[in-house]
Amino acid sequence: MCGIVGIVGQSPVAPLIVDALKRLEYRGYDSAGVATIEQGKLSRRRAEGKLINLQRLIEADPLDGTIGIGHTRWATHGVPNETNAHPHFSNGVAIVHNGIIENFAELRAELAADGYEFTSQTDTEVVAHLVSRELSRGLDPVKAAHNALKRLEGAFALAIMFKGDEDLIIGARNGPPLAVGYGEGEMFLGSDAIALAPFTNAITYLEDGDWAVVRRSRLQIYDMAGEPVERKRQQSIGISLLVDKGNYRHFMEKEIHEQPEVISHTLAHYLDFANGTSKPIEMPFDFAKIDRLAISACGTAYLAGLIGKYWFERHARLPVDIDIASEFRYREMPLSKASGALFVSQSGETADTLASLRYCRAGGLPIGAIVNVRESTIARESDAILPTLAGPEIGVASTKAFTCQLAVLASLAVRAAAARGTISRDKEKALVRQLSETPRFASQVLKLQDQIEKVARELAQVKHVLYLGRDTNYPLAMEGALKLKEISYIHAEGYAAGELKHGPIALIDENMPVIVIAPHDRIYEKTVSNMQEVAARGGKIILITDKKGAEAASVKTLETIVMPDVPELVAPILYALPVQLLAYYTAVFMGTDVDQPRNLAKSVTVE
Ligand code: G6P
Repeated sequence: MCGIVGIVGQSPVAPLIVDALKRLEYRGYDSAGVATIEQGKLSRRRAEGKLINLQRLIEADPLDGTIGIGHTRWATHGVPNETNAHPHFSNGVAIVHNGIIENFAELRAELAADGYEFTSQTDTEVVAHLVSRELSRGLDPVKAAHNALKRLEGAFALAIMFKGDEDLIIGARNGPPLAVGYGEGEMFLGSDAIALAPFTNAITYLEDGDWAVVRRSRLQIYDMAGEPVERKRQQSIGISLLVDKGNYRHFMEKEIHEQPEVISHTLAHYLDFANGTSKPIEMPFDFAKIDRLAISACGTAYLAGLIGKYWFERHARLPVDIDIASEFRYREMPLSKASGALFVSQSGETADTLASLRYCRAGGLPIGAIVNVRESTIARESDAILPTLAGPEIGVASTKAFTCQLAVLASLAVRAAAARGTISRDKEKALVRQLSETPRFASQVLKLQDQIEKVARELAQVKHVLYLGRDTNYPLAMEGALKLKEISYIHAEGYAAGELKHGPIALIDENMPVIVIAPHDRIYEKTVSNMQEVAARGGKIILITDKKGAEAASVKTLETIVMPDVPELVAPILYALPVQLLAYYTAVFMGTDVDQPRNLAKSVTVE
């Protein structure tokens, strides 16, 4: 989604803004722009496509102002082109915006009737005109911005600059995140701490409904009623140091390889390996006292939640309702006070997941947030944060955040089972030990990369792929298909193996690779029957299994990827790795933009 940067600085800010925008690239974007004010003149450069296009424009025709705003745009209203790119101007007002102005059509009609001309198809331009209309009525910039903000409905983060005041940026937040960073005689605005990391580690997150008057040596935050409010100044960790590809070609590759370490950090947060039990961390609710659990999330995080459902129900006998957040928020699900709710989100900012959280909050449920960004809105609005310790995830396609979400959910399932008395003390110890071995197994699995790369070469030739799995491997089959679609643009479907004969079997012919995820577990035989159905119709099988499974496969496969023998509880965490690597190498062969696939955004802050 769109990224925002603003600097009231001491030296020319355009190169710094472009640099900060680069660190927001991971969010996904399709055009970008920067505006600065220099000696009373407002100028901008905007370009379709990647930031390098904008950078070239600025190099050829520099912007010298020491105050400026910049933006990476992920198109919602209007195609990605230069005219729709931000900043948008109106009579000396410059604006960048992340989100959607829901009442834009009504405002646009009103402003057009007042003689304002629109040069873009965006919803953002109405905000520029609204502010400029307030200025034309004789208000000062701060009052004008406040009056305009009061007219807006929807989700927005905004940065506004004024031609007549070279010491003022107004930031506003209602939904998508916005942080203010403190410098020495300079101030910064950014969509997240990663954008601001090279400038400062002292930041304040605006809360929903806040707007801020940002000057070089002064910051004042107000609420929508115009009352000054105090917000915490916090230290962000120096994440900029970590946001680097190292020796890898892509962030996604690096993040896949970080998994043994980050899974280990995450598990160690929840589990006391020495005593084979859970650590006494702050929990949103007591698993022994709830009789249902609601889980909601989007995308890959939803699929992690779906695997969690199998674990909670199997080990802790705790029924789980799991929903895609965009459905959850509107389907008017009755909530029982005896339930707990968990929301899973890498970014902690996904609009639908946040709305589901608020629905549960209104229903009086205790709320836990499994998030990777601890300062995020979802984290702040929960009763307890259940962190994934994955570190910043930059590749748009989630990898290490997913396996860390699984590590948290598995740890919580063991905790719930112990609290509810559904497993013995010995079983608890055994499960904790199994989890403690996951990082070591993960390192072993990554050694299969050469074989997986070879399979990917085949996948890169085809148009459609089917993934099959049963039990926890069914959500993993969906994750495999999602990853492949996201980054290689190959059409893929993930199906429950047992459903094969209820539809997808019609698709199978000699051109259709079918990837089967099937460790040798208690239902392995059932999956073998499904593989036979595929083989009988000429489908090419790629089997991901373990040694026993490979021996017992009894069907000809195009390739068999043999995983280490791993306990059932931790299998989904480990089988996620070949699935990620397959998508990664296929995308590399296809030559796609692996870290920033077309049309996708890392942090989806609109509905
Ligand atoms: C986007 C990303 C996915 C992610 C999903 C949910 O679609 O591209 O990788 O799984 O949003 O994001 P969240 O930050 O809530 O986990």
